[in-house]
Amino acid sequence: MDERVSLIAALANQTAYGRKDVEAYIDGAPHIKHASLRRLYGKLVIEVYDEAARHAATPTVLDLGAGEGSVTLPFLELGAHVTAVDISSNQLNELREKCRRHSDRLEVHCQDINETLQNPTQKYDIVAVNSFLHHIPDYLSLIDKCTTLLNPHGIFFSFQDPLRYDSVALPSRVFTDIGYFLWRLSRGSKGDVIGGIRRRLRRRRGIYLEDCYSDNAEYHITRNGLDQNAIQSLLRERGFDCRLISYYSTQNSVFQPIGAALGLRNCFGLIARRAWAAT
Ligand SMILES: C[S@@+](CC[C@H](N)C(=O)[O-])C[C@H]1O[C@@H](n2cnc3c(N)ncnc32)[C@H](O)[C@@H]1O
Repeated sequence: MDERVSLIAALANQTAYGRKDVEAYIDGAPHIKHASLRRLYGKLVIEVYDEAARHAATPTVLDLGAGEGSVTLPFLELGAHVTAVDISSNQLNELREKCRRHSDRLEVHCQDINETLQNPTQKYDIVAVNSFLHHIPDYLSLIDKCTTLLNPHGIFFSFQDPLRYDSVALPSRVFTDIGYFLWRLSRGSKGDVIGGIRRRLRRRRGIYLEDCYSDNAEYHITRNGLDQNAIQSLLRERGFDCRLISYYSTQNSVFQPIGAALGLRNCFGLIARRAWAAT
């Protein structure tokens, strides 16, 4: 994929996350906002950490797109050494503050991950990409690079990405869209409902604008979601066993428990480890 597209997306993220205060970020981040999703995420973090800790006294984690630290923190609390990378200094300031009790096991790099991955100097026990892959235009290349950064028993761990939209069952899609629309409406002028509808209608016609940061920051949210099957195929080709965890996620606090109770699914996480190590 065109490097220019990656750069535009990276800069759009820098702008978007440079502007966002933490409260606004969490309101739009279901995996941090809702206790049920925090529980699911916490359970998976423990599972991944415990597996890594079987092979390393202090597991090392590379957290790409680490943001404000809500997901870096649990790994630190469990005892890992975390290298957190993000393009937004604004988000990383929050992360440093949130994780300051563990600063002896925390390394923070403010940079575009494309730079980070260009000349890697280290291998890791876990590469974590939480609520991140959908920001990266060529996420398959990114995942491919991540696999080369893992120690022999290393684990690739992703969470909170949208399932490929055309693979989501109609009831889940409709419920997701209505929940999202009502959440935007509930935010009043901050919700920018009219602007959102206009952008959606434009994108329906296949028109994306380079100078519209919302077209480029949440890159795959505004397109067709992530192709969970292509990701698994790639990882399997590289010798990994994959476990896909699909679940329901929305910013809307009323719709979240209802969608989950109805068994709807629109998001996924993935845990992948080398087949020979996955016993
Ligand atoms: C939705 S937030 C996720 C933050 C955190 N991982 C979480 O789960 O809450 C996405 C983060 O990715 C960062 N990001 C997006 N593109 C990036 C890039 N090319 N290089 C580094 N960070 C990037 C953004 O700045 C933002 O903090």
